Amino acid sequence: MAEKILITSALPYANGQPHFGHIAGAYLPADCYARFERLQGNDVLYICGSDEHGVAITLSAELAQRTPKEHVDHFHKIIQDVFAQLGFSFDHYSRTTWPGHIPTTQEFFHALHRKGLIEERTENHLYSEQERRFLADRYVVGTCPKCGYEEARGDECQRCASSYEATDLKNPRSKLTGSPLTLKPSTHLYLRFDKFKDRLTEWIGKKHWKDNVVRFAMQYIHDLKPRAITRDSDWGIPVPGYPGKVFYVWFDAPIGYISATQEWAQKVGKPHRWEDYWLDPKCKLVHFIGKDNIPFHAVFFPAMLMGQDLPYKLPDEIPANEFYMLEGRQFSKSDGWFIDLQDFFSRYTADQARYAIAANAPETADAEFSWKDFQMRCNAELLGKFGNFVNRVLVFTKQHCSSKVPKMGPLHEAFRKQMNEIVDCAAESFQKFHLRKATQLLMELAQAGNGFFDAQKPWVLAKDPARKEELDTVIALCIECIKNLALLAAPIIPESAQKIWHMLGFSGEIAKGNWKQIHTQAVPTGQVLREPVILFRKVEDAEIEEQIVKLGRAVKKMETTTSLPSLKPQITYDEFAKLDLRVAQILEAAKVPKSKKLLKLHIDLGFEKRTLVSGIALSYEPEQLIGKKVIVVANLAPATIMGIESQGMVLAGHFDPVLELPHIQNLPPGSVIC
Ligand code: 2FM
Ligand code: ZN
Repeated sequence: MAEKILITSALPYANGQPHFGHIAGAYLPADCYARFERLQGNDVLYICGSDEHGVAITLSAELAQRTPKEHVDHFHKIIQDVFAQLGFSFDHYSRTTWPGHIPTTQEFFHALHRKGLIEERTENHLYSEQERRFLADRYVVGTCPKCGYEEARGDECQRCASSYEATDLKNPRSKLTGSPLTLKPSTHLYLRFDKFKDRLTEWIGKKHWKDNVVRFAMQYIHDLKPRAITRDSDWGIPVPGYPGKVFYVWFDAPIGYISATQEWAQKVGKPHRWEDYWLDPKCKLVHFIGKDNIPFHAVFFPAMLMGQDLPYKLPDEIPANEFYMLEGRQFSKSDGWFIDLQDFFSRYTADQARYAIAANAPETADAEFSWKDFQMRCNAELLGKFGNFVNRVLVFTKQHCSSKVPKMGPLHEAFRKQMNEIVDCAAESFQKFHLRKATQLLMELAQAGNGFFDAQKPWVLAKDPARKEELDTVIALCIECIKNLALLAAPIIPESAQKIWHMLGFSGEIAKGNWKQIHTQAVPTGQVLREPVILFRKVEDAEIEEQIVKLGRAVKKMETTTSLPSLKPQITYDEFAKLDLRVAQILEAAKVPKSKKLLKLHIDLGFEKRTLVSGIALSYEPEQLIGKKVIVVANLAPATIMGIESQGMVLAGHFDPVLELPHIQNLPPGSVIC
């Protein structure tokens, strides 16, 4: 029986462009899961939308000299474009500024109020007489109460890392205007989360979620206190009966999942259909999030749902992912540590990005995107194993079987069994949110296909007419393997899966097919295959080098000079002139065994050849260096490094973690650098 599954991805703030860190956490795993469950024949509804309220948005809008509405319109579109670029298959993508979100949020509040779960409290808050408004933490700067830093932020000090209430700052000022702030009483509404402690504990106690989700949630439940759910602002969902106040963004955002489903129901012309998901206990509700969102999805939102009159579903699964970084550091546009997605997608396909991220998804530990890993995934795996297998089989079938699927005989039980096991194991992995494992299995299947093709040597069979039946079976089985590859690939790299489906001679979309049927029904004998097309292009070393250098350059631009090493003491020209710097050409390059950073280079100095050891292995592959001209300190006393005598030193620019060799190409080896 088809299962009803409601899938959500965390609503992204309409405050910036999503980066691969976000994509790896809450979006790609959800999309792959939604695509898989649709193939299983389940009734899937995949919902998302932009999170458009909150102080972070009003502050950025003011800094960008836009109204909040202009600001969120701008980023809502950018986010939608990135998601479309990556082929995310939302059934509906909404936004929390759509008018229908207001009554739904306000009704949540009314229901909690009716149950006596909301109370008023009056406390002192920071107020700007000049701006005539209360200012939230992020709008405030002042002197840190711990270390005395005068430009400390409203919530935590960026110098000593202490966190405090904005009201603890000395000399508090408005971040935008510099105006002084005073304390003024303001009344806010608090939700009595503490009253849900027992129900939440009992509910989570029955869940078999990832350890980190349960542990994190339990800690929060243990310390549950009433929390303010209102803010003084005019940007947000108005609090009924409290002019000048709006709901705190984390109150209205998760309700956005529901109102987005309501908007979807209206869009499909059945306004009540949202209830089939949200109010049906048999529907499975799955929230995909990054780990920083755990408390809101595992504690606060469930409590808000428990406090409603309508029998809302509580989340059944919360596959929270760990962080996904870029080359070992958190993505940060303001620090220049990011990938320009427009540039990325002008060079690479969505499937290349999806595959590289899925293969290394941050399911159980933090993971990272690195350009070298991306290149390896694209070249060695997508192109070398997967694309190559599809191509060699289809080209062979064209040449030797007139592009028609040959008849399959009974041979090769072991290979059939291996294929079936991989397909079943992949299905189980998708179902359990183990995207990384499913992706590995996809490549394992391609590898199994390559191994089978190599072992059976169909090119030898083809030479012997007496072995025609054997040949037919080998090719038919390889075509089965390609079909299964398309099936496993469909949730992860949907465009490529569809191309294969088409090449196999099928019409229609594989995404609309059924997993079990596709897996169990052989490609019909005699089906005419279409012209093979190349699925993936090679990613060249030079492109990757360019990207790594670009990253280093962007950081250099952004970092302040304080993070650069301080200047060394002055030297005289005579001291400088003692250095003998020469152009050298690299003749050979090889990794130094047991070292990640070192390469052994054999160089030509024009007047003699030498061996030296250089620490550039993290930035350059040995093959990239052959023939390259570099600058060498030619009169440096030899030193033994890892057992190799290094007769000189290669000069390179260094900005952690990137090393870049200076460009010098026209001078002959031995030329003097001065
Ligand atoms: O962390 C974030 O990006 C939030 N905008 C996620 C909100 S998820 C949901 F509750 F809306
Ligand atoms: Zn401090």
